[in-house]
Amino acid sequence: MRQKIVAGNWKMNNTYDQGLKLASEVIHMVQDEVKSDVKVIMCAPFIHLSGVSKLSQGVAQVHVGAQDCSAKEAGAYTGEVSASMLKSVGVSHVIIGHSERREYHAESNTLLTDKVKQALANGLTPIFCCGEPLEIREADQQNAYVKQQLTESLFDFSAEDIQKMIIAYEPIWAIGTGKTASSAQAQEIHLVVREHLAAQYGRDISDNISILYGGSCKPDNAHELFSQPDVDGGLIGGASLKSRDFVDIVKSF
Ligand code: PGA
Repeated sequence: MRQKIVAGNWKMNNTYDQGLKLASEVIHMVQDEVKSDVKVIMCAPFIHLSGVSKLSQGVAQVHVGAQDCSAKEAGAYTGEVSASMLKSVGVSHVIIGHSERREYHAESNTLLTDKVKQALANGLTPIFCCGEPLEIREADQQNAYVKQQLTESLFDFSAEDIQKMIIAYEPIWAIGTGKTASSAQAQEIHLVVREHLAAQYGRDISDNISILYGGSCKPDNAHELFSQPDVDGGLIGGASLKSRDFVDIVKSF
């Protein structure tokens, strides 16, 4: 059985106190209300991570993620945060290759390989993001585009390493826009991703990799998206900033 996962991506929102309040609400609601085995991950800004991690200590279902890590191990890289630093404050997951990082920080497929290497070397689970911009979708080239992102960033990793990763498919035209991919569109491309992983690593492995959908996922559309056979959960932006909405999404399987 593939792991069901809902990860919240807070992006650059919330002061420290606001972030801790949100985390604490989510943790309590998850403990009170969530009976299924879904894994909940809160991907907070760097400065919140240590505090959120302390709050979630001992709560097996709740994990803490960062939104990025450096491609370098350590040294003179002003402003960067390394995977080992994240690990040292109790972080277990890290988003790598979010479309906003690719776009605003010019992160290339090969740079992302180095970030994934750093994450894995420090025992962090990468949440590797892929997804196409609107013009690629309009030209019906999304399958080839996403396959190329995966091949170029991930396909030099061993079968053992690929099994440690989570993939998030996020069509850029659906992120923060209120336009969600239909459940049929999501299923179609999630299957493409899974088949692509199977072609490289074999079906046994690809069948066990969780593939999350991201892009305007909300309490009212999460159930339909999560009901698709190859959609194993979600990476949630805007709706992860409201504890009630986020936990309702967690309960949408
Ligand atoms: P959104 O963001 O849910 O606000 O569309 C998703 C994401 O970018 O991870």
